[in-house]
Amino acid sequence: MKIEWDPTLEVGIEAIDEQHKELFRRLDRLLQAMQAHQGAIEVGRLLDYLGEYVVTHFGQEETVMRDWDYPGYAAHKAEHEAFLEDFQTLRAEYLSSGPSAVITIRVTNRVTAWLREHIYRIDRALGADLLKRP
Ligand SMILES: [Fe+2]
Repeated sequence: MKIEWDPTLEVGIEAIDEQHKELFRRLDRLLQAMQAHQGAIEVGRLLDYLGEYVVTHFGQEETVMRDWDYPGYAAHKAEHEAFLEDFQTLRAEYLSSGPSAVITIRVTNRVTAWLREHIYRIDRALGADLLKRP
């Protein structure tokens, strides 16, 4: 299994689209490591590698929204925060339980589904709004 960005997720703002592609690359690396049964240290490192990029990326989207006085800012930011909380829970579970099929499935289902859903619904709305502006 491979996790990839696809064109239905295009937001239309190049910088944001590039960051989303990078998120999928990091997520895929994590999954490949988990599926290859790499050790806890390597998988933990890749979880952190993904987590750091998520924080940076969310921060940049939030800066864009503030700069443009985006009306959906609060709701959008709340989704980011909820995701980060989930992600931290997942990371903590992984660190305490170690690599397992269950946690691989959880990452697959939750992180990937959340990202796709969020980008498709929330980030594309942001892109559409910004592209309408002069
Ligand atoms: Fe977002």
